[in-house]
Amino acid sequence: MTLLQLAGVHTYIGQFHILQGVDMQVEQGGVTVLLGRNGAGKTTTLKSIIGLLAPARGRVTLAGQAINGRPAYEVAQQGIGYVPEDRGVFVDLTVAENLLLAERRKGQLAARKAMLLELFPDLGRFWHQKGGRLSGGQQQMLAVSRALVPENKLLLIDEPSKGLAPIVVEQLAHAFNQLKSYTTIVLVEQNFWLASATGDRYYILDDGLTVHSGNMPDLIRDTELQARYLGVAAKGRAV
Ligand SMILES: Nc1ncnc2c1ncn2[C@@H]1O[C@H](COP(=O)(O)OP(=O)(O)O)[C@@H](O)[C@H]1O
Ligand SMILES: [Mg+2]
Repeated sequence: MTLLQLAGVHTYIGQFHILQGVDMQVEQGGVTVLLGRNGAGKTTTLKSIIGLLAPARGRVTLAGQAINGRPAYEVAQQGIGYVPEDRGVFVDLTVAENLLLAERRKGQLAARKAMLLELFPDLGRFWHQKGGRLSGGQQQMLAVSRALVPENKLLLIDEPSKGLAPIVVEQLAHAFNQLKSYTTIVLVEQNFWLASATGDRYYILDDGLTVHSGNMPDLIRDTELQARYLGVAAKGRAV
């Protein structure tokens, strides 16, 4: 089943025409990786889905329902969780408080707590510590966990590996692979190791346009395509 579809999405930021025809189809389940160089339009695409930016043209549909042009709080209520690049952890609140704030209904955290702690055991150890005391990796785990408190159909995760040590990136890969049985993920990632360790399908953006898509194993083999659009030499664990 197609969960999310973008068809001919154009988005402006101020007078700048940033997205110039983004097409994407995300099937339910699994991880779809959104790749492309810096400035290609990946973050703008996520913001155009969640409603932080309104596409000027094109359609965004979630399970067949148009969501483009709806405000972010309404889109979120349709079951989309957004993990922004800056993680957005409240540094003066504890881990538990950060998670409680993510509830859309009372009791959601209690229902999810065991699953979250299994996914990210560190959160349990730091449960009553302030968010600001966590390492970058733990803050990222908290940010992802917040999006898991409500029963979201879809998670949009923007460059989670940025600035993190390889060992933490491996923990994220493990967690994302576990999450495939709970939800569908659109993952923006520049770290090709994480992209290839978790991705089922991929889309490549360049200059605000979808230029390629397919199954991740095909991209892993296609070093020419990687070099052309990603500027990566995907050898070994280039974390
Ligand atoms: N607030 C802004 N004002 C003007 N241009 C912006 C703004 N935000 C992003 N851009 C431009 O939009 C393009 C796409 O940005 P972005 O979606 O953040 O790319 P990516 O996430 O792929 O690195 C870039 O060229 C960037 O400079
Ligand atoms: Mg970005």
